[in-house]
Amino acid sequence: MFMQAIQEKLETVLTPFEIAAHLPLIDEINALKKEKNACVLVHNYQTPEIYHGIADYTGDSLGLAREAAKADCERIVFCGVHFMAETAKLLNPATKVLIPDLEAGCSLSESITVEDVRALKQKHPGVPVVCYVNTPAAIKAESDVCCTSANAVRIVESLESDRIVFIPDEYLARNVAKETGKTIITHPGRCMVHEQFTPGDIENYREQFPGIAVIAHPECSPEVVAASDFSGSTSQMSRFIRQSRAQKIMLITECSMADNLRAEFLDKDFQAPCTICPHMKKITLEKVLKSLQEDVYEITIPPEVFRKARQSLERMLEFS
Ligand code: 13P
Ligand code: SF4
Repeated sequence: MFMQAIQEKLETVLTPFEIAAHLPLIDEINALKKEKNACVLVHNYQTPEIYHGIADYTGDSLGLAREAAKADCERIVFCGVHFMAETAKLLNPATKVLIPDLEAGCSLSESITVEDVRALKQKHPGVPVVCYVNTPAAIKAESDVCCTSANAVRIVESLESDRIVFIPDEYLARNVAKETGKTIITHPGRCMVHEQFTPGDIENYREQFPGIAVIAHPECSPEVVAASDFSGSTSQMSRFIRQSRAQKIMLITECSMADNLRAEFLDKDFQAPCTICPHMKKITLEKVLKSLQEDVYEITIPPEVFRKARQSLERMLEFS
C-alpha cells in the first residue's frame, strides 16, 4: 500500500522506466531507515524520487532547521546541501547528521570568507550583521543573527538598528532593503541558479500565457521579484499555490521544485523556465543508501565556531 502510494505520486512526473529503476532503491532505503532509526530530511529542490519516495519531512531551510532541532532519531540523513546539514548538526548536536555527498555545496555559501566578514565589521563598527543561512558555520559564528528566505524581512525588522550588514546574498539583501526601508550593506554573493532569471523571461511568459501567476524566489534580482506576483521561500511558494485560484503558475526557481509540486497539485499547470542546482543534484538514491549502510558522511563542526554559530541560529529561531 505504502509503495503503491509512492508509485502513484511518481507516475505523475517520471517515466515508467525511471520509476522501475527507483522503486527497489526506495524500498531498500525505507527498510534500512527503520532498522537504523534514521530520519530523512529532504529539501524542496530534491528530485521527485527522493522527495516523494524516502522523506520523513520535506521543506524549506527554515522548516528543515526546525524539524532537525526536534528530530528524535539516532541519525539524520540530510538530502539537501552542506550548509543545511551543518545547521541540523548545530541545532541537534546529540544526533549524528549525515550528508550523502560532501560536495553538495552552494554558490552563496562559497562566496564569502571569515576575513570578508571581519573586514565588513571593521568598516561598519556597531552595525548588526545578519547572515543568510546559506553560509558555513564559521560565517554564522561571526554574525549576530542568522535568517532564511522565509524570515529575512522579519529578522531585519526586529533589529533596532536602521543600518544592517546583510551577507552574503546581494539580491536577497536588496529585496529585504526594499521591503524594510532599512539601509542594507551587502556583499556580492549570488545564487548561481536564481541570478540567471531576467524580467524579460517573465514578460515572455505573461504574453504567452495570459493570467499566469508568477512566483519567484527572493534570491532572484529585485527586478525579477518586482515583475512577479509573489516572492517567498520554497515552502512559502507552495503555500501560495495551495491558496491561489490561479490555474497556470510560472515558477522562477530550481527545476525539481516544479516537478515536486506537479505531483502534489494535479489540477494546476506549471510553466517552469527552471535552472538546475548542481549541488542539490549531487544527492541521489544510491548515495542515500550508501549513507545509511556505511554511516557516511558525518557532519562535524570545529568546536571553536560551534557555540557562536549555534547562537546566531538560536537567535533566529527566537525572533521568528
Ligand atoms: P529556501 O529556504 O527558500 O528553501 O531556499 C533554500 C535555497 O537554497 C534556495 O536556493
Ligand atoms: Fe545554493 Fe542556489 Fe543551489 Fe540554493 S539553489 S543551494 S542558493 S546554489
